Amino acid sequence: KEEMVTSRQNENSCFIGDFDVETFSHVAWEVSKGIADIHNNGVSHNNITADNIIIKMNKDDGSISIRIIDLGQASVLVEQDNKADKIKKDLCSLGLVLFELFVGIDPFQSKDLVFGRADFVSSGNKPSVPVVGTEGSNGVSQSNEELKSLLMSKAPLIVSTIIFNLMEGNHYQSAEEVDLDFYTILTDPGYYLHSTNSRFGINLFGTQINVLRGREKEMSMLMDIYNRVSRFDGVSELVLVSGYSGAGKSALVQNIRDPVQCFGGIFICGKFEQLQEMEPLSAITTMFADLWKDLLKRDKNTFLQIKAAIEESLGSELNVLASVIPSLRQIVDIRIEETPNTGGIEAQNRLKHTFRLLVRAIAASLPALVIFLDDLQWADHVSLYLFESLITDTECTSLLLIGSYREHEVNDTHPLAAILR
Ligand SMILES: Nc1ncnc2c1ncn2[C@@H]1O[C@H](COP(=O)(O)OP(=O)(O)O)[C@@H](O)[C@H]1O
Ligand SMILES: [Mg+2]
Repeated sequence: KEEMVTSRQNENSCFIGDFDVETFSHVAWEVSKGIADIHNNGVSHNNITADNIIIKMNKDDGSISIRIIDLGQASVLVEQDNKADKIKKDLCSLGLVLFELFVGIDPFQSKDLVFGRADFVSSGNKPSVPVVGTEGSNGVSQSNEELKSLLMSKAPLIVSTIIFNLMEGNHYQSAEEVDLDFYTILTDPGYYLHSTNSRFGINLFGTQINVLRGREKEMSMLMDIYNRVSRFDGVSELVLVSGYSGAGKSALVQNIRDPVQCFGGIFICGKFEQLQEMEPLSAITTMFADLWKDLLKRDKNTFLQIKAAIEESLGSELNVLASVIPSLRQIVDIRIEETPNTGGIEAQNRLKHTFRLLVRAIAASLPALVIFLDDLQWADHVSLYLFESLITDTECTSLLLIGSYREHEVNDTHPLAAILR
């Protein structure tokens, strides 16, 4: 008994969302393989939609086969003729189809038009892959966040990640890579789809294998907090990670970097070194320098948005801050030089205020900003003062601040202990 369904939900057909995640992954794998076959035959499909994918399920032996139909718009892949763009467009369509299969709605038909279908369907010479979260308007990126939440509420993180990477169009270069990711999932569905650990030990194509053992609880706790913070009205939260040296504090927190970035957030880290007392603030300065570099590499719109937000909220106070965080000069024009003065109470308050404004401006421009300050037991006084400024800032939104320290090296007289009390 074979049951034939088109993958689009309609009255007579079976909605794939009724199946379990494993069956879904199997279907997704078959579809990716099908598209890889088409591409390997030197052709791009150019019209991959849910209607054009026929899924055959044999309920007796559980076998699944799929057929991709309607090659009416297919074209031969020629190197000079935007071959990579055409492949990317098919992959992007694949992402949209998988989204629809999983969630049950076409992302374009959800009430907010997010990905700009007109743009997407037009097949001019330039790539017209929709880009998530770079539209610049709050309304749009919020809808993106809604789509992500919707998907994440239905699919395991690893599957949501693959689908969003496809929709964003900048992770996968070929359908074979997608095929490989779903294949990997199917080699151990219990691990990849059903245990919480798997949600984060993502073994995605092209990314480093980085699986933490026995940290399921901590990882889902951190990600739950991240999800709270990254909600539209998300308030800021502080997480402290303490333990002996070598306990795995850094590894644990670093492990949320990929999922955070996958879901639109930014993860930055400042690590204090034992012998850096000589160079106060270097961890924080480096952290921001890395942030600017990262932003420039990833996404120009977000960069410009953040730059504008910083300039607007700090104005002439930028001078004060740039004397403490010189890397600010890399992104904003600062003409007047000021000598660092962190001595007097007034100067300290000013520094606290401007630093808060900086972090607020960045965090508010993103779904969420994660700041990880590692090895706080070695932080200098000014850095600790800035850390404290953030902890006590009640007006900052969308910030997840994570601090780690060696418990046994922070006794009652340690300046960090005073802050944490
Ligand atoms: N849960 C884990 N599974 C596998 N390796 C781990 C785990 N936690 C830590 N490690 C490894 O143990 C070593 C020490 O961890 P690290 O995070 O640097 O400790 P800490 O920051 O607490 O001093 C690192 O090489 C790290 O990769
Ligand atoms: Mg460490």
